[in-house]
Amino acid sequence: DIVYLDSHFVPKEQAKISVFDRGFLFADAVYEVTAVIDGQLIDFNGHFQRLQRSCKELGLSLPITKELLVDVHHELIEKNNLHEGLIYLQITRGADSSRFFDFPSSSVPSTIVAFVQHSTVVNHPNAKKGISVISVEDIRWQRCDIKTVALLAACLAKHHAHQQGADDAILIKDGYITEGSSSNFFIVNRDNEIITRPLSQDILPGITRQAIIQLAQEEGLKITERRFTLDEAKKAKEAFISSATTLIWPVISIDNEDINQGAVGHLSQRLRDIYLDKAL
Ligand code: PDD
Repeated sequence: DIVYLDSHFVPKEQAKISVFDRGFLFADAVYEVTAVIDGQLIDFNGHFQRLQRSCKELGLSLPITKELLVDVHHELIEKNNLHEGLIYLQITRGADSSRFFDFPSSSVPSTIVAFVQHSTVVNHPNAKKGISVISVEDIRWQRCDIKTVALLAACLAKHHAHQQGADDAILIKDGYITEGSSSNFFIVNRDNEIITRPLSQDILPGITRQAIIQLAQEEGLKITERRFTLDEAKKAKEAFISSATTLIWPVISIDNEDINQGAVGHLSQRLRDIYLDKAL
């Protein structure tokens, strides 16, 4: 594969960064993951806007224009013959061997890395069969609205879920579900009302989440942004997660308790179909 690193396209074996890079030392970096289907970027504008916001919140000046970034993404798709999968982009506050915690001088250039991942998005088996999740305490920091690479809590949650034989973890804060370990979380109640947690500093403003809210409204479906407890989720008619990597995956069990008798929910399936229709 060919990787983009600081204005150059290089074979992945040659894509090396400094041990003093602040992304490595302090997780002082932001990232985005954009889905690619049929060689096309999905919702790139949304991802770029969120990247701008993440940078702004961290006082990190975005070192590349939108036009150039689009070009980089397209070149990666072309050079790697990426038909379906993801593009990962990371921007760090650069390398500074002093290891001062404070920001380095503005003369230190940021590091930009982007690479592709060949993966199944449209016909992923989990979309058909659904996934099992377990609940874990949300131990992340208080700015989960910024897409930083400080993902250790998410790694721990996912590892714990896999050890318990589940596919993923959902995170609980003060008794309420915030989101998935790397996704937003939705439930559907007995009145076919779709419910997801409102945006705040507790969750990432998912680009897929936003697209789902919009298309649900267009379809005349009832969609509400409010908090809900783990208990309410377990009693829900349906549940699903959303992200660029999964689009929508139905959730068929929470903490080993079946949702919808362990079958993929009708509305989850329909929303995924509509999302794919619109995206392509
Ligand atoms: N994760 N919430 C969290 C904590 C996430 O990490 C993600 C995405 C989302 C969904 O956002 P979006 O719909 O914009 O992908 C919600 C990416 C895919 C990742 O870390 O791989």
